[in-house]
Amino acid sequence: MRKIFYMGLLAFLFLSSSSFAYDLKSNMQQLNNELRDIQLGFIMSNKESLKGSVDKFAEHAQELLGNKKKFAQMLPKDKQYKANEAVMSAQIISHNVQIILDAISNKYNQSGKIRREESQRAYTYIEHACFRCHNIVRDNY
Ligand code: HEC
Repeated sequence: MRKIFYMGLLAFLFLSSSSFAYDLKSNMQQLNNELRDIQLGFIMSNKESLKGSVDKFAEHAQELLGNKKKFAQMLPKDKQYKANEAVMSAQIISHNVQIILDAISNKYNQSGKIRREESQRAYTYIEHACFRCHNIVRDNY
């Protein structure tokens, strides 16, 4: 009886830890797809679709990266201390998302050329925030 209990407990622990890993992967893949939509918006210079893509991406990036405790739970045990990086990246991302949104709404009354260049640069900074954290979490290989 006790043996069955412990086996059940082990299975539960295993499943719950791997479900965090699964969550992390599927959330990251979703983020990646949404970032690709933004890239497409810039490449096609399609302001309307860009706005929608940026809004969607911003919301999910904040959900996934903005909550340090939640993000830590998804990391493997030996990587949990790296959750700080998530919050830092979330801040970099939301700062640059704001730059893109301000450019789209022409908040500062700038020329189209300047707004395009600044928002395109902000996009590359967002991508850089992804790379930065990946380099940190993957630095053992
Ligand atoms: C705070 C850290 C962090 C940030 C920021 C981050 N990621 Fe990740 N990402 C991870 C971790 C941890 C994994 C899972 C382990 C691994 O793949 O090395 C991962 C995995 C992935 C994967 C692979 C998923 C799979 O199927 O294996 C993709 C795609 C991805 N991230 C995209 C992104 C994109 C796009 C961004 C930026 C918008 C981003 N990530 C930002 C930590 C981060």
